[in-house]
Amino acid sequence: MNILGIETSCDETAAAVVKDGREVISNVVYTQIPLHVPYGGVVPEIASRAHVEKISQVIGEAMAHHHVDAVAVTYGPGLPPALIVGLNAAKGLAKALGVPLVGINHIEAHLHTPFLFESSAGGEILPGPEEMTPALGLAISGGHTTWIDMPQYGVYEIIGQTLDDAAGEAFDKAAKLLELGYPGGPKIDKISREYFSSGRYSPSSLIAFPQGRPREGVSQLSGLPAELCVSFSGLKSALLRYVQQNGGAAGLSAAGEISRVVASYQEAIVQVVADRTRRALSRRKYRSLIIGGGVSLNSRLREVLSLVAKSKGVELLMAKPSYCGDNAAMIAGLAFYRTNHVDDAMSLDVCPCLEVGQ
Ligand code: KG4
Ligand code: ZN
Repeated sequence: MNILGIETSCDETAAAVVKDGREVISNVVYTQIPLHVPYGGVVPEIASRAHVEKISQVIGEAMAHHHVDAVAVTYGPGLPPALIVGLNAAKGLAKALGVPLVGINHIEAHLHTPFLFESSAGGEILPGPEEMTPALGLAISGGHTTWIDMPQYGVYEIIGQTLDDAAGEAFDKAAKLLELGYPGGPKIDKISREYFSSGRYSPSSLIAFPQGRPREGVSQLSGLPAELCVSFSGLKSALLRYVQQNGGAAGLSAAGEISRVVASYQEAIVQVVADRTRRALSRRKYRSLIIGGGVSLNSRLREVLSLVAKSKGVELLMAKPSYCGDNAAMIAGLAFYRTNHVDDAMSLDVCPCLEVGQ
């Protein structure tokens, strides 16, 4: 069964055709990042206009001459004016082709990415998703940092999350403060890697930034255990104070200190994510740890989480880099396992705050 996926929740216009939920037949991603760089972040109106301009071309390229049995689309969470473009295109196409439409949750789709493969790439193919549960999912991106219990494939329950910024946002905001450019995650990753492999690094050379653990019982936890939640606001304020006290970005740069500050900040985020993951893995017996989302590209996070998974005896499943960021192959892929969501899909509306497992 070939499913066409469409994704426009943020700043990527994407379409893909995936066979039987896993084999990627085509995958087209048009990234708008250059359009948002001057503003240091995604501007919803610009994103929406660019989706409108590109969507037909992107879908056309992905479909090429491929037969399609269903259309799947991200209906949330995401930016409302951006989601609407993809949903309208998907509805029109499903109607024109006379095939079902499946609405997909963007965060749940990120957790499907390790199961995607291209037959042309060769190599080892993972067992099916049903064989990898019970799984702990970690969706870590510019919009989310969420730990998800998946007792069976397709069943999702949030067990921990950030109470404020997502990890990707924390990277992007720090990069803005330090004048490193947008998006900040890849830049911070690269600078940190260089610092760690330089002669200047030793564990004691890192600045001890706070690794925010919310207080037990605070209302923002919404009933989730504090030990599985995180707050990045204290870390961000600590960085701001440090930068202000040391002559701003220019002062730190003149003193050759930027890379040490950046590596210390990244390490605080990585260690806090690793700690919550370790705790979540201790709560029940899992078979795998599934990680998805743009921040899962972070090389230090990958390294540390693979050690965590090893120490807990679970298999770590991570997507290949081309599927870590936003794409439509993950939408088309997950839809194969969610065709029970078809019935009222034509009356589907965008759901900007859609929760995992809803
Ligand atoms: O999943 P994604 O493409 O879009 C969202 O759904 O948010 O994630 C984008 C986020 C951005 O915040 C970006 O800075 C971050 O992923 N990111 C990284 C890395 N590559 C992308 N963060 C840390 N290290 C990276 N190598
Ligand atoms: Zn995403």
